[in-house]
Amino acid sequence: MSAQIISGKELAARIRTELAQKIKNHSSENMPVLAVVLVGDDDASKIYVRNKQKAAAEVGIGCEIMEFSASIGENALLDVIDDLNANPHINGIIVQLPLPAHINSLRVLSRINPAKDVDGFSPYNTGLLSYNHPDAFISATPKGILELLLSTGINLEGKSAVVIGRSNIVGKPVAMLLTNRNCTVTLTHSKTKDLPAIVKTADIVVAACGKARMIKAEWLKEGAVVIDVGINRIDGKLCGDVDFEAAKEKASFITPVPGGVGPMTVAMLLSNTFEAFCRQEKDPISGNKHHNCGCGHCCH
Ligand code: GUN
Repeated sequence: MSAQIISGKELAARIRTELAQKIKNHSSENMPVLAVVLVGDDDASKIYVRNKQKAAAEVGIGCEIMEFSASIGENALLDVIDDLNANPHINGIIVQLPLPAHINSLRVLSRINPAKDVDGFSPYNTGLLSYNHPDAFISATPKGILELLLSTGINLEGKSAVVIGRSNIVGKPVAMLLTNRNCTVTLTHSKTKDLPAIVKTADIVVAACGKARMIKAEWLKEGAVVIDVGINRIDGKLCGDVDFEAAKEKASFITPVPGGVGPMTVAMLLSNTFEAFCRQEKDPISGNKHHNCGCGHCCH
């Protein structure tokens, strides 16, 4: 049996259309605004950032890109974050990763006011996620993965999920998110022994290891649901971390690359930005709650 293809492209388009409608119907003098901090000349980052800006404009979210040279110092970058935290016209702040090696990413991400941290990368929001707290901003890719899984209609409760890759951006938050949904989660990584045998136990496979077509069809349980987070190139052609052509004959549902997880990431970022905007409208000082960066600008 051939798997049903889960089209992230179509689902993301539906979510963006609904979001555009919600923003249009929302009576407010202000529009939601996302600030994107881009440091250095990474070509892939530049493309991602332009995509986010274009998608934001289409749903009625303003997007201010702030570009800095790779030589910017860490303290100067922290000052930029402080100014954005204190600016009432900015509702969401993201710092495009990776940052240059001389900058401590954790320090920078920790400085973002949690109420504006729409990427959900600050320790505060990852902490709320581990508490399964409703106020958590959940980072865009893991949130998109959950939406893709929910779109299949399968009941997640009690399912065995194997996540391949333990990055802070994808693997670890996905494992937490699925745990919160009552899946039994195994988080695997490059040092895991006998990965194929572990994948064989999985009702749900989330492949986020960054290795082209590493996950083979023979590793899968018949009827597994497969989410492929990989973006790799073989001979210039985009491919995921799963050997898609063979795996689709074994899986019940599978995401393609491109057109799977990627479009969902942008849609979820926009949805988080609107959520941040609504929360800040309801409670203008919420932006300053729980935040203790000590900068003197945003903490009261
Ligand atoms: N780099 C790779 N993925 C992401 C993402 O989702 N957000 C940010 N800020 N940087 C990234």
